[in-house]
Amino acid sequence: MKTESFLSSRLWRYATKRFDTNQNLSEEQLHLILESIRLTPTSYGLQPFKVLVVNSINLREQLRSAGFDQPQFSDASHLLAFAHYDGFSEDLIDRYIDLTIEIRQADPAKIEGYRSFLKNLFGAWSTEQKSHWADKQMYLALGSALQAAAELKLDSCALEGFDSKKANEILGLTEKHLKVTAFLALGYRSSEDATQHLPKVRVPSSVLVEII
Ligand SMILES: Cc1cc2nc3c(=O)[nH]c(=O)nc-3n(C[C@H](O)[C@H](O)[C@H](O)COP(=O)(O)O)c2cc1C
Repeated sequence: MKTESFLSSRLWRYATKRFDTNQNLSEEQLHLILESIRLTPTSYGLQPFKVLVVNSINLREQLRSAGFDQPQFSDASHLLAFAHYDGFSEDLIDRYIDLTIEIRQADPAKIEGYRSFLKNLFGAWSTEQKSHWADKQMYLALGSALQAAAELKLDSCALEGFDSKKANEILGLTEKHLKVTAFLALGYRSSEDATQHLPKVRVPSSVLVEII
């Protein structure tokens, strides 16, 4: 594959500020984005996060208020909330081990040691450590979704600019032990979004990459 075509989707995408309110993702496009998120690798395979597809216009307007009135919250075709488990319990480990037994038809006796290993490992962590770790895993999924969108020629904007306490309240996440730390707006760029014409600002690889 030529370098130019490999990088083309990465060069084409940009953090969309203004979406075309008349163009929507198809069910299939949304499905592909959600599958890209689901297939994202995570540490130990635990997938310690949830993605909420926020379709309610009312909730999206409230999130826009919590998000410093950024129009992407309400105007994009779709809005995904990325929420990590805020100090997860052993349930997540049991979920993973039980799924492994089921999907790989693994011998439970052979995998029980690994279940205990994971429980001991995470059992020694504080709630804050687990939450921080879960958030990092969640961001891998966000990155994966951003790239998937670009490959599908869909516009997107990751959004961290919001009051997280308010957003958690709006989405009723606290009682579910979830914490939203990022959103992803998806759709089609408005022809009036001037940002699309700006060149990318990135440090040169001589600064970013060091060969040792
Ligand atoms: C995790 C994350 C959070 C971001 N939050 C916002 C945001 O709240 N509002 C916004 O307009 N852009 C936001 N951005 C967009 C970045 O500013 C943008 O991706 C970066 O400047 C690089 O520009 P580009 O995406 O156009 O190449 C966010 C990007 C990421 C990855």
